[in-house]
Amino acid sequence: MSRAERSRRASARRSPESGDPMSGADEPTADERLELEMAEAARIAADDWTGGVAPGKAARFGPSFRRLIGLLKPHAWAFAFVSLLGAIGVVLSVLAPRVLGDATNILFEGVVSQMAPAGATQQQVVDGLVQSGQQDLANIVAAMRDFVPGAGVDFIALSRVLMTVLALYLASSVLMWLQGYVINVIMVRTMWRLREQVEAKINRLPLRYFDRVQRGEVISRVTNDIDNITQMMQQSLSQALTSVLTIIGVLIMMLSISWQLTLVVLVSFPLMAVLFGVIGPRSQRAFGVQWRKVGRLNARVEESFSGHALVKVFGREQSSREAFRAENEELYRASFKAQFLSNIMMPAMMFIGNLTYVGLAVFGALMVAGGQLRLGDVQAFIQYSQQFTQPLSELGGMAAVVQSGTASAERVFELLDEEEQEPDAADAPAPVEGDGTIEFDHVSFSYTPERPLIQDLSFTVAPGQTVAIVGPTGAGKTTLVNLIMRFYELNGGRILLNGQDIADLTRHDIRAKTGMVLQDPWLFAGSIRENIRYGRADATDEEILEAARATYVDRFVHSLPDGYDTELDEDASNLSAGERQLVTIARAFVSRPSVLILDEATSSVDTRTELLLQHAMAALREGRTSFVIAHRLSTIRDADLILVMENGAIVEQGTHDRLIAAKGAYYRLYNSQFEQAATDLDAEAAALSPSVGGDPAPGAAGGPAAEDDAVAAGA
Ligand SMILES: Nc1ncnc2c1ncn2[C@@H]1O[C@H](COP(=O)(O)OP(=O)(O)OP(=O)(O)O)[C@@H](O)[C@H]1O
Ligand SMILES: [Mg+2]
Repeated sequence: MSRAERSRRASARRSPESGDPMSGADEPTADERLELEMAEAARIAADDWTGGVAPGKAARFGPSFRRLIGLLKPHAWAFAFVSLLGAIGVVLSVLAPRVLGDATNILFEGVVSQMAPAGATQQQVVDGLVQSGQQDLANIVAAMRDFVPGAGVDFIALSRVLMTVLALYLASSVLMWLQGYVINVIMVRTMWRLREQVEAKINRLPLRYFDRVQRGEVISRVTNDIDNITQMMQQSLSQALTSVLTIIGVLIMMLSISWQLTLVVLVSFPLMAVLFGVIGPRSQRAFGVQWRKVGRLNARVEESFSGHALVKVFGREQSSREAFRAENEELYRASFKAQFLSNIMMPAMMFIGNLTYVGLAVFGALMVAGGQLRLGDVQAFIQYSQQFTQPLSELGGMAAVVQSGTASAERVFELLDEEEQEPDAADAPAPVEGDGTIEFDHVSFSYTPERPLIQDLSFTVAPGQTVAIVGPTGAGKTTLVNLIMRFYELNGGRILLNGQDIADLTRHDIRAKTGMVLQDPWLFAGSIRENIRYGRADATDEEILEAARATYVDRFVHSLPDGYDTELDEDASNLSAGERQLVTIARAFVSRPSVLILDEATSSVDTRTELLLQHAMAALREGRTSFVIAHRLSTIRDADLILVMENGAIVEQGTHDRLIAAKGAYYRLYNSQFEQAATDLDAEAAALSPSVGGDPAPGAAGGPAAEDDAVAAGA
């Protein structure tokens, strides 16, 4: 998380333009985006989905939402079917209170009937009540439907009704459970597919994409955003239908009982709307602020821990502590406000609910007394009014979840829509078995159109040659070798490998033939042995050992307690920088490529080891075309061809001796480095040669010892 976080922040700062250009005016600024990202990370880390909703609004809600729903298409039939089941379930559960109301009617009417003389008609009883001045009771009795004076409670009818209610509730629960279950299965499958798509997509994206978008941001899309979508789908989709159906069903039932009482319920709506309208957004905003502050605080804490040494080096403890205190104070205020607002929401809603309840009781009683309604109907109605508010507030909460889920979906779709690298041609020719000739034929290339880098570059490397590329920082050395690996497509010209245009070959074939040791060594969490074997999966332990010996990995591995099984952590921080480089060289050694590329492969290794490596690598390079990029010119003196690059162009080429004699750019570069050091180093090399000879490393015997004449020329 930490590294992702940092690079995400960096990305927010550096590339505000990396957002969707279609998104229009309310695209957040880089700073806002950064804050939102931090807030989101904090919220997710806190595993809290209830306190407010993930920040973020979809720029184009409609199309993105439709596309999101479109993901469910493969399951459309299953979805329609379970929705139907769910709908039936809702209808059943909506019917139940009405039927239960009948039970109340049967009970109440039975009890009242006992007070009337048997044999009389309902009308006679009503008339009698009117005459004795009991007008209300007369109305009530007049409204009764199955009134048989003197009959008492019809327990058989009552039990029938109760059984029906039970059956209704049971059936509806089963149906709704089934609906929820199937929808969850659909959702999980859909998300699984989405993750697969994203993963596959990332593999098809050109490297250019990763130059533009920070790693952290990609990670966040694959993890946080997909989590967020899942959350939204599970929370909302299965709920939404049920909620809407329930609202409609309940409304119909209420209207069928009494439109007057329905009015009483609806009157409470504007009240709730005001409440939602006033407190809702404030509370949302407060939560947003709260998460943003948490994000900042986390970032601050992380910064001062991961940069712990730096904080101390620069004596920033005091200011760091003060900054922390200020952030903490702000967080305290923000959380207080958020909690306060969210905490008054519930009681206020309950208050309005209870007001409605009282209103219903009063009006209901009046209507029963007036003979317009039966008692059971009022009871059913009150039950409905309570069933009504829950799906409503669920829908209200869903709106925010859907917003944020759609925003996440939009980011994921954005990734899915990125331009892909051109797929390898299906009829790509098989790579010819060559000796590794490489030809650059009028190659031009630039990372960005505004900044031309390599223009019209041509040169040829004969098989087995060692080519050294030297030049100042930023000259385009790494770029040049990246082009050979076809990490980027050319803007013009072609590169031929064994006479074949690499643009025709599959990327896999090119890379299978090339071994590369990158400028920053990359090791994964695993043992040293596994890290070396990464070069070639079927390498035997014997071959690994051989490579390790040749690259002097063996030497330091022996001092490790677990030897080759020593587990490296993610940053391989338990090895020194130089040791890390040696392991990556061993890895390239094992892969036995026909073209070998070493980009500053030995920059962190001491000169003595570097010299030893030189000899070892002479063996590795034998019969292979190799490119060596080095800032320490001592390491490339014996190269067959030296290319001196400046600003993307090759300004000089030739052997060491020739270039020195030419007294051009190389001569100046060399002199600036070697005025003093070269002679020392040379003495060192001479001193070393016997010990190298005794070493079991392959190639040591044939290795060129020291090129005295060259140094002499330089001195
Ligand atoms: N991925 C990239 N996107 C855009 N520009 C880049 C990218 N990589 C490098 N550049 C630019 O291209 C130029 C050449 O970079 P390159 O990495 O090839 O230099 P280099 O010669 O390897 O330097 P160094 O000696 O420091 O490794 C630089 O100006 C750099 O800013
Ligand atoms: Mg470089």
